[in-house]
Amino acid sequence: MVAVAILAAGRGTRMKSKLPKVLHSLGGQSLVERVLDSLQTISPQRRMIIVGYQAQEVKTVLQEKPTSHLFPELEFIEQTKQLGTGHAIQQVIPHLEGFMGDLLVLNGDVPLLRPQTIKQLLEAHQEHQNAATILTAQLPNPQGYGRVFCNEQNIIKEIVEDRDCTAAQKQNRRINAGVYCFNWSKLMEVLPHLQANNDQQEYYLTDAVNQLEQVMAVDVADYQEMLGINDREQLAAAYEILQERVKSKWMKAGVTMVDPQSITIDDTVKLHADVIIEPQTHLRGNTEIKSGCKIGPGSLIENSLISENVTVLYSVVVNSIVNADSQIGPYTHLRTEVEVGAGCRLGNFVELKKTKLGNRTNVAHLSYLGDATVGEKVNIGAGTITANYDGVNKHPTKIGNRTKTGVNSVLVAPLNIGSDAYIAAGSTVTEDVPDDCLVIGRSRQVIKPGWRLKKKLDDAEV
Ligand code: UD1
Ligand code: MG
Repeated sequence: MVAVAILAAGRGTRMKSKLPKVLHSLGGQSLVERVLDSLQTISPQRRMIIVGYQAQEVKTVLQEKPTSHLFPELEFIEQTKQLGTGHAIQQVIPHLEGFMGDLLVLNGDVPLLRPQTIKQLLEAHQEHQNAATILTAQLPNPQGYGRVFCNEQNIIKEIVEDRDCTAAQKQNRRINAGVYCFNWSKLMEVLPHLQANNDQQEYYLTDAVNQLEQVMAVDVADYQEMLGINDREQLAAAYEILQERVKSKWMKAGVTMVDPQSITIDDTVKLHADVIIEPQTHLRGNTEIKSGCKIGPGSLIENSLISENVTVLYSVVVNSIVNADSQIGPYTHLRTEVEVGAGCRLGNFVELKKTKLGNRTNVAHLSYLGDATVGEKVNIGAGTITANYDGVNKHPTKIGNRTKTGVNSVLVAPLNIGSDAYIAAGSTVTEDVPDDCLVIGRSRQVIKPGWRLKKKLDDAEV
């Protein structure tokens, strides 16, 4: 039996933020969500989250997490005063009465852990029947971390917090990652009796570790997994590591990245072989890009599905779908809930919102389409605008197959335009348009011959 407790009650003073530290975002997901995700390879009986500072906000984020169905039975335990990591775990005592298994404890600020590493920790713990087993690593710069002192068999003698270390102890580069597996009954012998006699006057979980026997260290080869986030610089460093991991994975899977340093990709993004990503491109959230696409330079794609052989150049695509063989950009904005058909061409300074385009439809220049449903092989002329908002409500526009709107058409919604219709340039269309017709909705041109000459003469008389 394994129960898990994640420590997420602290404010994270060193972040200098109103937002609780564990809710700071790392590549589109909060730190605590990432810690929760690292439990994928084990199936604990209980999942407890210790919350305190802005408890409700932390709860909401975890309950609304897109994969929350994987963690249906999260238990939130309140630590009303944040008196240290040991005090935080004392809060679970009433909830684990009679529990006979192991308790896995994870700091909520260790977001780069790999699920495989947690599994290794559990296996080592169970194999050696330790009172506690903890993850450690040799850090190039261990400043700020608790130092772990072991014998040759990796049996821990002591953990000393950085601020309580002597100068000699600070030379030790082996650190405590804040990831522990405890035999719960053994932990219960010491946990209720912790003292706060340290520099911070806090109840340290590491003190409980120091009082147990036997405690074993599991050294993790990739020290980067162990990095804890306490300030904004560490958050930025963790982001860089995450980016390296993500990009290396996709390059190995057949994705070309031109100038990878200038590209960012959330680890929730899915790519396919033979995608080319050009410089200054950012792929976020639940985005998938199929084979043969060329994305960038200079594009942002968020929560969108891009089908095969699409090009996106200097454009922004959010919450949208683009079907195969379409060309987007330069300077197109698919603002939200847009579906572009196959083989479409969307060009310069075009904005679409809640709009569906049929296959092989073009919106090539200077247009805004909102709440519109457009058929196949339609040509939306330069400067066509749907006037979809009357100041109170939004209204739909429908355009049938093969229709052509002339340049500078204003389509005042609600409006139904049929198939094979032509709208003359400069028209303001306020009434529905049947199939096959030509619509001219503008005032007739008036020519006043000689007008300028006459005016000139008038001026001369003054
Ligand atoms: C802690 C460890 C240190 C380790 C480091 C690894 C202790 C005493 N020290 O130090 O040995 O090297 O993590 O990153 O444990 N929290 C609560 N309630 C509290 C205090 C903290 O829930 O009262 C939570 C925080 O939200 C955070 C986690 O516990 O997620 C760790 O707290 P933090 O203050 O970051 O501890 P460190 O100083 O990093
Ligand atoms: Mg920390």
